Amino acid sequence: MAAARITVNGRETPIAPAAPHTTALDFLRERGLTGTKEGCAEGECGACSVLVARPGVNKPTDWVAVNACLVPVAALDGQEVVTSEGFATPGEPGTPPSLHPVQEEMAVRGGSQCGYCTPGFICSMAAEYYRPDRCAHAAPDSRTGTGAAEGTDAEHGPNGFDLHALSGNLCRCTGYRPIRDAAYAVGTPTDEDPLARRREQDPPPPVATQYTRDDSTFLRRSTLAETLRLLRERPDAVVVAGSTDWGVEVNIRSRRADCVVAVDRLPELRELRVAPGHIEIGAALTLTEIERRLDGQVPLLAELFPQFASRLIRNGATLGGNLGTGSPIGDSPPVLLALDASVVLADADGEREVPLADYFTGYRQSVRRPGELIRAVRVPLPLSPVTAFHKIAKRRFDDISSVAVAFALDIEDGTVRTARIGLGGVAATPIRALTTEAALEGRPWAAETVAAAAAVLRAEGTPMNDHRASAGYRSAMLGQSLLKLYARTTEAVPS
Ligand code: FES
Ligand code: FES
Repeated sequence: MAAARITVNGRETPIAPAAPHTTALDFLRERGLTGTKEGCAEGECGACSVLVARPGVNKPTDWVAVNACLVPVAALDGQEVVTSEGFATPGEPGTPPSLHPVQEEMAVRGGSQCGYCTPGFICSMAAEYYRPDRCAHAAPDSRTGTGAAEGTDAEHGPNGFDLHALSGNLCRCTGYRPIRDAAYAVGTPTDEDPLARRREQDPPPPVATQYTRDDSTFLRRSTLAETLRLLRERPDAVVVAGSTDWGVEVNIRSRRADCVVAVDRLPELRELRVAPGHIEIGAALTLTEIERRLDGQVPLLAELFPQFASRLIRNGATLGGNLGTGSPIGDSPPVLLALDASVVLADADGEREVPLADYFTGYRQSVRRPGELIRAVRVPLPLSPVTAFHKIAKRRFDDISSVAVAFALDIEDGTVRTARIGLGGVAATPIRALTTEAALEGRPWAAETVAAAAAVLRAEGTPMNDHRASAGYRSAMLGQSLLKLYARTTEAVPS
């Protein structure tokens, strides 16, 4: 197996002698690329954002921004990374380099004061600058305020810039308006732009990695079968995809593993298939990839994605990881429970399909056995037509939910035929609100039914008091969620 190496700003560099748990952030900074900053070391500030060349959705390669503080550098073996130092074009000897268009806009519009967050903003903004399906809309007439084309709204600029691209970047001193001004002013890459041209070629292929230092090993196999055999030999291994959870454990809780196994590039875990009776979503597709590939085909998932952490996290996080960690406040389980999804578990002997409603067995525990891997999530078809996802958190984006509620209802001729309600944050595991579902099914979708069911919903689970919310608040929010859904469908709030 070739020695592990990474290409940074066009220059190939060996990963050794970094430890297998060394983050890409520390690796880069130790090599003098100190534009990449550490703010939080847990994926919340974006100061560490860098670009990685990944398989594209509309072009062979996409430049994807990720949190370098969460990704082990060993996971980037064979990959290409661009840091904030890699954007400017070097000038002739004795002349300064030319700024990249994103850097230029940030500079002229006052998007930087102390500058600590700026390299991270530049990387996240550059990823959106290079997004192939970003398209400019007509700007509104500044005198009349009319004329804005469809797609221009509070979160999209006239240049098609999606502000969610910056939802994982925090700035403590500039204020966000000049940063938004810069984002909304960037144009389209020219044909000569080397990073734009790079999108036309294939991304670096995944490479098998066996990287060992001091009794600790980072492993990546090429196929699912090889990975499952490895997990049979090493059932103690920590399995990672985007490392958005494990990276926090490493940085904040100083956890270390003897063996880490990466599954994020396994082709068998990266398929998205629409079959006659279900949609199968590969467990290692990132949330961003699922969002772009589904393109709204599953409205409940489309409602979830913008509320799931930040774009930087969604560029790494996977459904397999969100279910694998078994957190009671993960954002995807309530939605997948409402969709009546199941998980496909694989080990060296074969596969089994488990309804998600039977998957969680206790706090961060599940029916997944040692050596078993989540290969895919299946969402049955047809989809229920009335759906909603309500995440109650202290911030609108980039936050952990206090309570999350997802609804999927079939309402025919004014009667609720089926109801599926997934809850997060009210028990040791994500749960279905079975009693509330029974209180709705077979009854008219009417104010009286909904008010009675909301009272039942308030009593579901065993919510706790903690620093995010009180038990009483959590219960109240459950009931309110159902009333809100009813109000949305009927424009009338039951008394
Ligand atoms: Fe804050 Fe990485 S250092 S997100
Ligand atoms: Fe100071 Fe953003 S410019 S933190």
